Order: sequence, then C-alpha cells, then structure tokens
Amino acid sequence: MFEEAQLYSPVTTADDGSVTVHLGDDHPGVNDEAYRARRNDIARAALTWQPGTPLPRIDYSDVENEVWRTVREHIDPLHEKYACRAYNDAVAALDLPKDRVPQLDEVTAGLQPLTGFSYVPAAGIVPLEEFYGSLEDGIFHSTQYLRHHAVPLYTPEPDLIHEVIGHGNLLADPQVAEVNRLAGAAARRMETKAGLQMVADVFWFTVEFGVLHEDGELKAYGAGILSSYGEIEEFRHMEIRPIDFAAMSTIDYDITHYQPVLFAAKSFAQMVDVVGAFFAGCDDDTPARLGVKDAVTN
Ligand SMILES: [Fe+2]
Repeated sequence: MFEEAQLYSPVTTADDGSVTVHLGDDHPGVNDEAYRARRNDIARAALTWQPGTPLPRIDYSDVENEVWRTVREHIDPLHEKYACRAYNDAVAALDLPKDRVPQLDEVTAGLQPLTGFSYVPAAGIVPLEEFYGSLEDGIFHSTQYLRHHAVPLYTPEPDLIHEVIGHGNLLADPQVAEVNRLAGAAARRMETKAGLQMVADVFWFTVEFGVLHEDGELKAYGAGILSSYGEIEEFRHMEIRPIDFAAMSTIDYDITHYQPVLFAAKSFAQMVDVVGAFFAGCDDDTPARLGVKDAVTN
C-alpha cells in the first residue's frame, strides 16, 4: 500500500507566515542553503495562491532552466525508443519548450484545447481525496520546484519535471485524460479508506507505472517511468505481469526504489478500456472482492 504522496518533502507554515520545506537527510539539496531558500519561496507561492486568480509564475533561474534542458536532452531520445505512440504523439501536440522550464499557465494553455485539463500549483503533498478527486474536474495539482542541479537526472520526490514531462504530456492525450478523469470520479465515490487506497494503488500501477505491448515491444505509458531517466532504461528488465487489479491492490513494497513488478496492457486500446472500466465501475465493495486485507474494517 503506497502512494506517490508519501514521497513529497513535508511543508510547514510557521506562526509568522514563513514557509519551510523539510528536505530529508539524503536529499541532494539538503546542505545547499540557496536551494533550500528557493524551495521555501516556491512552496510559499503555491500556498498563497487562490483558485480563480492567475497561476503563480516562477522566475526560473539559469541553473533551473539548465536542469530542464539537461533532462530533456537525455530523456527525449529515450521516449522515441521506450514510450508508447500515444505519449510521443501527445508530446508533439503539447509542444512544450525544450530550452527552459515552462510555467504552469503555459501547460494549462496547451492542455485546454486538447483535453480541457488545467494545472494548479501544489507546495508538496496534496490530500489524496483532493489530488485524485480534482482529476474528475480536469484539474492536476503540480509542484513547481525542480530537483537539485547537482544531479539533474535524479530526484527523490516528484518535481515539476515529473508532473509536466510525465503527467502533463500524457494529459494531452484525450484517452489518457479520460482515464484520469475516471480515476478522479472513482476517488470521489469512495467513502472508505480502503476504497480510496485501492484507487491510489491502481493509479500507481497504471497512470504512474503502466506499461503496454505495442508493435511487438514493451513500451511505457506511466508518468513515473516516462519522467525518470533511470527507470525508463530499466523497466523492460522488471517482472512483467498482465493487468491484475487484485495484485495491484495487494502488492506491498518499497516505493523509493524502482518498481520490481509492472503490469502490462495488451495494447494502448486495451489499457484505456480495461483501466477506464475499472475506475468507472469500482466502489467501496471492490477492495473486499479483490481480496484486500482489512477492506471490511477500513
Ligand atoms: Fe505522479
């Protein structure tokens, strides 16, 4: 049982209004005062933003733009090789800048005519109900900070590169966008913790870490794989199983390492059909039917 939310660095607001992002001891930026101050500033911008007002624009530095450029330089060629066709088509349709960090309002402007999705700022962790639930309305909560520049191809937490290169591009595909909306609607239907956790678990193994067969090869459609320079080179070596919602809901292991088990759809179309149908049809009784322990009491 896990969700991506567990990976975010905690953010706190003191009585005087100052915002602090608490990086873990092994975070690459933990000893860099300038990076920590930057993280605090970006988190404060997200926390003070009010829905209905213009999205906060971050004045990204040369160093931050260089991180974005470096990641794209390394990962774009891998997408040609390892990403499913729908993802590569969506990247072309959204056409985000390669040489600088895009603003959330630019991502929104690109997504709106394609699938109607909007990006809104998140300082860090967003409560599960809110994060998933708002997907039904076509709203994606996105962080705006970047990973530390010392290790541009690695991040211990979801950063803007994950949210935009992974999720943002995927959300430019109408069918993937619909799967996300259905996941959001499923999360909102759940009245039990077990039900919400099941949605989070299936989301993890599909929208985040899904793979599929295409043209006789295994390709990735999960945002977590597509935004990770390390993971995209490794996923074909993992244990690959057919889509199995019961297994997705009951497997338990360390989310901070590469996923050792991945679930493959037979095709992109099958993924849309099967995963979409699961989210459309699941309810609070589904965890018990899938054999989730504690499903009745939670
Ligand atoms: Fe994600």
